[in-house]
Amino acid sequence: MAFLVLLAASVYIFWPSQPEVKIVRMHVKRMQMHTVPIIALDISLLVTLKVRNSDVYSMDFTSLDMAVGYRGKMLGHVKSEHDHLRAWGSSYLQAELELNGVEVLSDVVYMLEDLARGTVPFDTITEVAGWLGLSLFKFPLKVKISCEIVVNRTNQIIIHQNCYPLK
Ligand SMILES: *[C@@H]1O[C@H](CO)[C@@H](O)[C@H](O)[C@H]1NC(C)=O
Repeated sequence: MAFLVLLAASVYIFWPSQPEVKIVRMHVKRMQMHTVPIIALDISLLVTLKVRNSDVYSMDFTSLDMAVGYRGKMLGHVKSEHDHLRAWGSSYLQAELELNGVEVLSDVVYMLEDLARGTVPFDTITEVAGWLGLSLFKFPLKVKISCEIVVNRTNQIIIHQNCYPLK
């Protein structure tokens, strides 16, 4: 009986769980509208992600990719460098998204409205790939989460965030 309890406890402790990925900040560094030759937008975003490792294993990212969209339209990707997370550690990753001349034709009216209102909604899909492991064992790690976030343009604080994992 004691053995079973111990076994169950160690399976619980050593069973790898996925890291928690959260968008902490999305700072709109620059946003500029062009009307000539076509209506286009230059936007530069600074995104801070917090990745929390709740495992006893350390974590190595081989890639972190975040796609940012606006009203269902993809604006671009943010990629992050390799990183190493200690067991039970948290890491902040910062990535910059620089987009020039994004054609927003149909969405330009919404974008102007959102800017005037002071809040801009973005959709993001974040994919984290890497390895979880002790020195001997390695588990492949793959997390994909989708978030809808609403950013306050004045103070760049995320007012609302709704995230769910994707398969
Ligand atoms: C956005 O931030 C500004 C400045 O802190 C604040 O006055 C305003 O109420 C905020 N807007 C929303 C919708 O939270």
